[in-house]
Amino acid sequence: MLKEFNKINNLSGVLTLPGDKSISHRAVMFSSMAAGESFIQNLSNGEDVKSTINCFKQLGVEFITAKEGLRVLGKGFKNFKAPGKNLDAGNSGTTARLISGILAAQNFESVITGDDSLSKRPMQRIIYPLTKMGANIIASENSTLPIKIIPAKKIQAIDYELPVASAQVKSAVLLAGLHAEEITSVKEKYPTRDHTERMLGLKTELFSDGKISYSSKLNYPLPKEYFIPSDISTASFFIVLALLLPGSKLLVKNVSLNPSRTGILDVLKNMGGKIEKVNTKESSGEPFGDLIITGSSLSNIRIDEKIIPNIIDEIPVLSVAGVFAEGEFIIRHAEELRSKESDRIHALCYNYKAAGLDVEEFKDGFSIKGLPKINSPVLESFHDHRIAMAFAIFSLVSKSGGKVNNFDCVSISNPNFIEQIKSIA
Ligand code: S3P
Repeated sequence: MLKEFNKINNLSGVLTLPGDKSISHRAVMFSSMAAGESFIQNLSNGEDVKSTINCFKQLGVEFITAKEGLRVLGKGFKNFKAPGKNLDAGNSGTTARLISGILAAQNFESVITGDDSLSKRPMQRIIYPLTKMGANIIASENSTLPIKIIPAKKIQAIDYELPVASAQVKSAVLLAGLHAEEITSVKEKYPTRDHTERMLGLKTELFSDGKISYSSKLNYPLPKEYFIPSDISTASFFIVLALLLPGSKLLVKNVSLNPSRTGILDVLKNMGGKIEKVNTKESSGEPFGDLIITGSSLSNIRIDEKIIPNIIDEIPVLSVAGVFAEGEFIIRHAEELRSKESDRIHALCYNYKAAGLDVEEFKDGFSIKGLPKINSPVLESFHDHRIAMAFAIFSLVSKSGGKVNNFDCVSISNPNFIEQIKSIA
């Protein structure tokens, strides 16, 4: 679908957005693992989380949709049933990588598949540490999906230092660690999102050269009630839109304010963005609260390497803020963007060039100067939900608007994006 967006002048109103995608995946997984009934409120309604639910249905977990949320009848320690067919993770890297850590410890064979995009994404990053823990994993020649997981003799604990900043790899190892007697440790130089640690109550230690998280059999999840705060990554599109339109005032309710995810708020505030946090609360170790955003004038700033893992999913929309801010937007140390749902460095540079901006592409980032010159450019989503939404925001702020091709992929994280824009525009 080619979706056209015209410039809007300002916005106002209140938004309540769907549950955070990362927390939703984990709530489904941990409820499925726990023996007995869990209850999840405000689960993400995106396709990615549906992929996780479908995988666990095939593993024998029962999901009952109730008025207030989702009831999950979990299976208990190593009690999943063998899936009758391949487990399809769809477009979701979190599903494929985290479920591998769980399946590595089961006593049946399973095969994980994904869509075209996920089948190109690197899996060696989980295969290597899980194999060190005793897992038996067979992948295709390039270490991509599909992967086959064969029952292991035993899953044993390891001490592992992450070679790439990745919460998915960290979580896969910690989840496999829940099936071992001894303690598994995962060290990371620049801390990534810590939902797995918070939601399972894992021990973590902060050092001058990084962070270590620990898991063992003693941390295996129990049935629980979860309230999932709204997704800060989804909220970021609306936050940037409100900041870029003078005279705007927006209230976004119950947004996840986990410190390993709020880097985007820090960067935007340092650029001059007026963002206020109010009504802060906590559920399952996850802080959340309301955000009040006021239209502001922004200036580009230097973005430090340390903060990159914290803002990794927000870089597409942050670059849109950068285009309309004073000065040149530069992002470096972000090569991981090339391994997301699309090669996001290429996707962003391609679209900014299509809009007539001065773009320089680097291996680990890009820089952008100037303002959009092309009238209503046709921009490509590359079938990547965050690229599609970033260029919707870009078009809504650009004088001549813009069109985004293959826009339907937004349903991966936020199927109601268009309705939400209409409600505040
Ligand atoms: C996620 C971790 C991040 C992020 C992804 C979700 C998670 O990926 O980009 O959208 O839920 O653990 P990394 O594994 O590269 O950190």
